[in-house]
Amino acid sequence: MTRKPPRKTILITAGPTIEPLDPVRFLSNHSTGRMGFELARQAKRKRYKVILISGPTALVPPKGIRFVRIKDARQMKKEVLRFFKRADCVIMTAAVSDFRPAAVSKQKIKKASKDTVYLKLKRNPDILAALGRKKGRRILVGFSLETNNPIENAREKLKSKNLDIIVINQAAKGLDPFGRGAKDVAIVDKNGKMSVLKGRSKRSIARLIIENIEDYRM
Ligand code: CTP
Repeated sequence: MTRKPPRKTILITAGPTIEPLDPVRFLSNHSTGRMGFELARQAKRKRYKVILISGPTALVPPKGIRFVRIKDARQMKKEVLRFFKRADCVIMTAAVSDFRPAAVSKQKIKKASKDTVYLKLKRNPDILAALGRKKGRRILVGFSLETNNPIENAREKLKSKNLDIIVINQAAKGLDPFGRGAKDVAIVDKNGKMSVLKGRSKRSIARLIIENIEDYRM
């Protein structure tokens, strides 16, 4: 009798993080979560065990996966580290806020007679860089969003965060990486292989990312 090998586990992060400023306000970004949710769906379809950790989005997670909701970057880090041990591959699509308000006001900040308000921001932890320092045999996939020099900057991120694969998006005139519709991305692996995908839906991009990961090693 031949026994099937155990199913591999893919940990995916999605969406924005929201960083509270006072009880009614936060700092965040335009991420909709769509890329991460599509990846979770495609990975599930290919019979991987899937853990999806997401910031606030309007999307419904696929059935049959482990789903964890978080709000801010520090909560995301805690949950990612909790599940990291059991993951064979981590795909960080989340648009983690790099900064958070240095102080969170317990009460709503009132405008009173102020014309200008100064916000002091503090660095959030870089979750992916922390994973890169303890990756072991895991495959690490990062995302990169740039307005300028996307390929060059992404190659630098691939190296500095110790990644295996990086998926490159550009935000520029006529190029909107957020939400639905046809997108252009490039996928680069640490051996230098690059695939350029033009005018693809996020579903099709997700399928190709999973194939790239499988070709790479899984
Ligand atoms: N990321 C992360 N933790 C952060 C910021 C980013 O884990 N605090 C992850 C993202 O999920 C993404 C990758 O790092 O997979 C790249 O993020 P990006 O914001 O493009 O790059 P940064 O490393 O933040 O670099 P820079 O601020 O120079 O653009």
